[in-house]
Amino acid sequence: MSVYSANDANMFLVIYPHIAARLLKGIEGRGWKLKQWITWVYPSNIGMSKRKCTTASRAVLWFTLGDPETYMKADQQPFKNPNDKRIKKLIAEGSKGVNFYDWWHINLRKNVSKGFKGYFNQLPVELVRRMILLTTKEGEWVGDLTAGAGTTWEVAKELGRSCWLNDLNPDCIEIWEGI
Ligand SMILES: C[S@@+](CC[C@H](N)C(=O)[O-])C[C@H]1O[C@@H](n2cnc3c(N)ncnc32)[C@H](O)[C@@H]1O
Repeated sequence: MSVYSANDANMFLVIYPHIAARLLKGIEGRGWKLKQWITWVYPSNIGMSKRKCTTASRAVLWFTLGDPETYMKADQQPFKNPNDKRIKKLIAEGSKGVNFYDWWHINLRKNVSKGFKGYFNQLPVELVRRMILLTTKEGEWVGDLTAGAGTTWEVAKELGRSCWLNDLNPDCIEIWEGI
């Protein structure tokens, strides 16, 4: 998923960690700067092996081009100790929480999840919402080069962002038309 303006842009790649490790240098070589390597973790009971640990994470590589704005307060994790005197004061002053850690615990999108379209590896809405909120304001553009079932558009619409989608699978168009 990518988010951009004329010269400044954010791009997120959500991929398996071992693939991220292989691709990183090549992407940086094309001018994108790695802003942060975030790890998305989720509980999983698939892909178990007797010979190694179960993969239950993806790399969320956050790249930038130029110097785009970030909006870290647009989506935050709640305070862990809201009854602490100092935290109570912050909440009274309008603070809603603190910045997320660089690991995000978000459940996979299951076939019983709202909006599940039966497409493989549909991203969780919460994950896409977080990427969009941290990097754009209402009215700005987001795009998705490998859009699949169109989760990016689903969330962009909800958040009042404009959106373009791309995918090499022509069947996706029918799914997008239903969003
Ligand atoms: C895991 S799915 C994306 C799911 C999507 N994020 C969602 O939430 O529904 C990956 C998509 O990438 C598309 N894809 C793979 N290689 C591509 C390429 N070179 N150009 C465009 N789309 C591609 C596939 O057709 C597939 O729909």
